[in-house]
Amino acid sequence: MHVIPQPNHVIPTQGSFELTNATVIVAEGAAMAKAEQLASWLRPATGFRLPIQPATESTSTIALVLREPRLPSEAYELAVAPGRIQLTAASEAGLFYAGQTLRQLLPVEIFDQDHHAMDWTIPCVHITDAPRFGWRGAHLDVARHFMPMAFLKKFVDGLALHKYNVFHLHLTEDQGWRIQIKKYPLLTELGAWRETTRTGHERDADRSFDNKRHGGFYTADQLRELVAYAAARHITIVPEIEMPGHAQAAIAAHPELGNVPEELDVMPNWGISKHVFNAEEGTILFLQDVLAEVLDIFPGKYIHIGGDECPKDEWKSSPKMQARIKELGLGDEYELQSYFIRRMDTWLGARGRVLVGWDEILEGGLADSATVMSWRGEAGGIAAARAGHDVVMAPNTYTYFDYLQSVDKASEPLAIGGFLPLETVHGYEPIPKELTPQEASHVLGTQFQLWTEYMPVPEHVEYMTYPRACALAEVAWSMQSRPSYADFLQRLAVHEARLDKLGMKRRRTI
Ligand code: ACM
Repeated sequence: MHVIPQPNHVIPTQGSFELTNATVIVAEGAAMAKAEQLASWLRPATGFRLPIQPATESTSTIALVLREPRLPSEAYELAVAPGRIQLTAASEAGLFYAGQTLRQLLPVEIFDQDHHAMDWTIPCVHITDAPRFGWRGAHLDVARHFMPMAFLKKFVDGLALHKYNVFHLHLTEDQGWRIQIKKYPLLTELGAWRETTRTGHERDADRSFDNKRHGGFYTADQLRELVAYAAARHITIVPEIEMPGHAQAAIAAHPELGNVPEELDVMPNWGISKHVFNAEEGTILFLQDVLAEVLDIFPGKYIHIGGDECPKDEWKSSPKMQARIKELGLGDEYELQSYFIRRMDTWLGARGRVLVGWDEILEGGLADSATVMSWRGEAGGIAAARAGHDVVMAPNTYTYFDYLQSVDKASEPLAIGGFLPLETVHGYEPIPKELTPQEASHVLGTQFQLWTEYMPVPEHVEYMTYPRACALAEVAWSMQSRPSYADFLQRLAVHEARLDKLGMKRRRTI
């Protein structure tokens, strides 16, 4: 059995199940949609159009049973016996994960997009499975480089295969604004396009540019469609609108949101812009208008407001911002940033949502209801969990998939730097040893990050994603006492054939 992520309890039993064109899928009610999904996964390679019925006399059945309230919401049981497979769960998500596991019990050819004439045999087994963490996430930056919608759907399919359930979509940056906001069309008319882009590494001495216009954005309707596509695969999209830093594209479109009189471009090079939003009341209200449209598109509980890497130079030299600090009775620029984030926290809370921010939101005082995403190592996550806040562990040293996959830089495509090999990802433990069990209960889970400065096209994103995403799936889903890295590699050797058949442009491990 070569399933990734490794299921928790696997008991092999006698015999096997033959999938044939006489197999009937048995489902009713809310399980119907999951049965249809399963049938659609089995159809291309087998050519079977398996009927879905509430009951059957057939001696070859795959039954989806949606009950068992004793199972946690994403858990499932999968029993394969000669003549009958049963998927059991308390929720549609559980049935979906049972189906994903079942796909991986079949010969790898099941992932072919073309018909194969062969025996579709599944060895009998009894699996009981449930995720370790409720937040199994993937972050993708579509702002540094715009990614086509078709790729975002393919990316979601890849996440679903590995039982991820959060897609963190990084929509705004210094280098581009990618979400249509109907009240402020200039954000995309101007902010979604840059006239030129840095070539080579930002640290290279030779500072050249490609002189090509780059950009694009997603309409509200396209994003709604993506939300529905992800939801059908039990993935929630967490949208990120960066503030008060990483905002140069928005300021280029709306200079009144910035701090300096000169006109700004959408940023053509990488690194952190020192041009940030001002903290005037009008800017806060503008961004709340933006968020109102964001909430209308993305129904999930969590809304990410960035909060990272906001240089304070402009606020320090701006008489208006200094006056604002005094007027609000604040101590310094960090407290002003904290005030800014708190305003968003209160606003989101009043609308039933939860603010998520990168760990810099701890500086100057953490907003009451904020969830912290710990990226500069684990310290921010530890501090936030100790203060009773929920935390998502996203430390750069284990989860930054923009880092190099080999020490041999010359053999790899241009990357930001760092070194994050597969084994390090697989060995990650998201619960820091320093935390008590009570504090550790605030760790919602973990996610990988794809920052796309040096990933201009989808194929390159996939190269940085796979197989590291397979390894982090095991960290996020499987029990803490998961099988060894050597065991993972054995399963991966088979699993990579599945990725290939799905057209994922992975990095080769061998
Ligand atoms: C980050 O990498 N600036 C969150």
